[in-house]
Amino acid sequence: MLSAKLDQPAILGGRPAVSLDQRQANRWPIVTAEDEAAVLEVLRTGDLSSHGVTRELERDFAAYVGRRHALAHCNGTAALLAAFFALELGPGDEVLVPTATFWASVLPMLWLGALPVFCESEPERLGLDPEDVERKIGARTRAMVVVHLWGMPSRMSELGAVARRHRLAIVEDASHAPGAEWRGRKCGALGDVSVVSLQTQKLVPAGEGGILLTDDERLYERALCLGDIARILELAGPARRFAATSFGIKTRMAPLSAAVARVQLRHLDERNARRNANLAYLSRRLEALGFETFMGPEHVRRVYFEYLIRYPEALAPLPLERLVEALRAEGCEASTPRYPLLHQQPFFTEGHYARIARPQGPAVTYRREDLPRTEAAGARLLRLPSFPNAGQELLDQYALAFEKVMAHAQAIAQRG
Ligand SMILES: Cc1ncc(COP(=O)(O)O)c(C=O)c1O
Repeated sequence: MLSAKLDQPAILGGRPAVSLDQRQANRWPIVTAEDEAAVLEVLRTGDLSSHGVTRELERDFAAYVGRRHALAHCNGTAALLAAFFALELGPGDEVLVPTATFWASVLPMLWLGALPVFCESEPERLGLDPEDVERKIGARTRAMVVVHLWGMPSRMSELGAVARRHRLAIVEDASHAPGAEWRGRKCGALGDVSVVSLQTQKLVPAGEGGILLTDDERLYERALCLGDIARILELAGPARRFAATSFGIKTRMAPLSAAVARVQLRHLDERNARRNANLAYLSRRLEALGFETFMGPEHVRRVYFEYLIRYPEALAPLPLERLVEALRAEGCEASTPRYPLLHQQPFFTEGHYARIARPQGPAVTYRREDLPRTEAAGARLLRLPSFPNAGQELLDQYALAFEKVMAHAQAIAQRG
């Protein structure tokens, strides 16, 4: 180990630290004969639109997360639209949201006329910053969207207190965090209405799918009225009158996807445990070098949709891009994070959002320079694989790659 550590880094002509084949170690989703059998069973019935497996998935999900209602959707984006619709967001309403998230946490609300107000994220857990959220509350604010980014539960105590003080609803986007826990409660059970995406790269992959979760009967009924026409007929209350029309879109989940999701959910804990063990091991090695790895506080049990670490400014004279280059030369699958900040996107800065939301009050302006703290903190992040199937040897090779690069940081910087 010591002699390998003294090797030249690969970017300066040395031998790459990572020699193992990574395809299997990072392969996702994990599909076995159990998934195949579940799909075939549904396929052979020929009932590919309304097979009962979708409801079984809903029951399983609600029981797993600990909620009264679960409603399956064709994807997480549709489930988020249903969540915003259920809360009766409409023209003129404002919703506090992170800028550091995937677009689907935010954009569906525009179809209802509601406008996002972007907030800073805090640097320890990368979720909404409760202080900035409170500062941005105005007369039109109705709700906030909390995203447990990359699988790390957000600051729910503080955000919950802000929501209660100002009577705001919480939409929880737990798409990255199925299986994660905050103070003993599962993510997906922490919002008035919560959503989990089941897209293929997520921790409960279905191909395409999304689950909406709530304990509130009224919210559940409204979500159902948006786009699940067959089930509106089953409602006992006045919402049943929409059974001939719904609210104009169709959002139900395909049973073949539900069959896959059911099997995947059964394996969620065991597969999360494997990622967590791998990443706890690698994180300890990288923390020893001075990287911040977001392991989370005591009362939180995070999961890893993706594995991001922070490269503190003072750690080495190497710019982040050059560090990534050096790690890639070592054979590491390293990159910078893939979500650009939403408030800086042309959709907002050039005003295109107004074509959908048609704001009636004063126009909202979105400026690139609006959220400097999130921008600065995000610029120090580095993305690595989440190693769903890796053995320790590959993790050791990654750690060695980092050790080599950091030991020679000065030389690498000079030869840039
Ligand atoms: C945080 C977050 N929310 C929502 C979604 C949307 O889910 P879907 O792709 O299933 O529509 C995604 C990702 O795909 C996501 O990463």
